[in-house]
Amino acid sequence: MNAVVVHHHGGPEQLVYESVTDPIPDEGQVVIETRCSSVNFADIKARRGGYKNYEPPFIPGLDAAGVITALGSGVQSLKLGQRVAAYTTGGAYAEKVLAEENLCFLLPETVSFEQGAGIGIFITAYNLLTLAGRLQKGETVLIHAGAGGVGSSLIQLAKVLGAGRVLTTVGSEAKKALVSELGADEVINYRQEDFAQRVLEISSNGADLILDSIAGETAEKGMSCLAPFGRLVIFGHTGAGAAQFDSKQLHSQNRAVLGYSSGGYRKHYPEILQQSAEAVLKLLAEKRLRLLIGASFKLEQAAKAQALVESRKSSGKVLLTP
Ligand SMILES: NC(=O)c1ccc[n+]([C@@H]2O[C@H](COP(=O)([O-])OP(=O)(O)OC[C@H]3O[C@@H](n4cnc5c(N)ncnc54)[C@H](OP(=O)(O)O)[C@@H]3O)[C@@H](O)[C@H]2O)c1
Repeated sequence: MNAVVVHHHGGPEQLVYESVTDPIPDEGQVVIETRCSSVNFADIKARRGGYKNYEPPFIPGLDAAGVITALGSGVQSLKLGQRVAAYTTGGAYAEKVLAEENLCFLLPETVSFEQGAGIGIFITAYNLLTLAGRLQKGETVLIHAGAGGVGSSLIQLAKVLGAGRVLTTVGSEAKKALVSELGADEVINYRQEDFAQRVLEISSNGADLILDSIAGETAEKGMSCLAPFGRLVIFGHTGAGAAQFDSKQLHSQNRAVLGYSSGGYRKHYPEILQQSAEAVLKLLAEKRLRLLIGASFKLEQAAKAQALVESRKSSGKVLLTP
């Protein structure tokens, strides 16, 4: 089969499309013939180096959708020919991928492979709002990078789950209309105005829940517009820097700073991901949630796809098809 392989850490040019050996399923694993894979910001960090245990050579990619073509021993709940979305074991930028049985999610008939390939960001967004964020009906939510993959899912899901006002930040005027269409009530271009000040103008108490994938100064500033009893959830470091907080900012106002990682759930609580997947796939089937597809590339153009996400000009999800 063909796949995209990173042989050396570095820029997008390090993504090499080449022939590799077909995957063989181990006990409890399946092989999925890929119909669509997704580009995640984590793939870019893995390619650049210094992120988790990604040592070359490796195939990047975390999730994909396709058809099951082989079953490893002991697989009970899945059958050949079933349409699934999955977190992959090994990279997803490949014509065939491996996945653990308990990290495969059956796609309803009406959910396309393209929509299914967004499973990772939908599960992340759902868990951020429910498990980590403990969203209550009517609360004000602030979502950073609202036009991005996770951000565009968060806006839609926050509304479905009963948020009051949904505020979001974007880095360009061009992205504003897009996030409003998804349901954001207020869009703040953080390059043109101070987002924390704007949040306090809109909601004098501040935001009850802030979902922050940027960290660094953005998270520090977030603390200045977090309401009493508010939760600031950090789930990424797109901005690279770590945030520093004073513990005095927390206890007297019952505020909390939390971390979230779907990777941690994959490892320790896969059964919770099954429940989250079921919830988001139901919403996708009912058309109450949709994957915002910003661009689609052939697998061999993975370098272009990643470069687009790095340029900050992409919106929603960037997809790869074999
Ligand atoms: N914890 C988890 O389980 C989990 C799961 C999935 C994703 N994540 C994290 O969530 C974040 C979003 O992931 P995604 O795949 O949906 O990506 P994405 O949001 O589509 O990423 C690109 C966007 O991030 C914003 N951005 C802000 N600072 C940036 C910088 N220094 N360089 C590039 N972009 C920057 C840009 O939007 P603006 O210009 O509009 O600000 C850009 O368009 C990433 O940090 C990712 O690692 C975490």
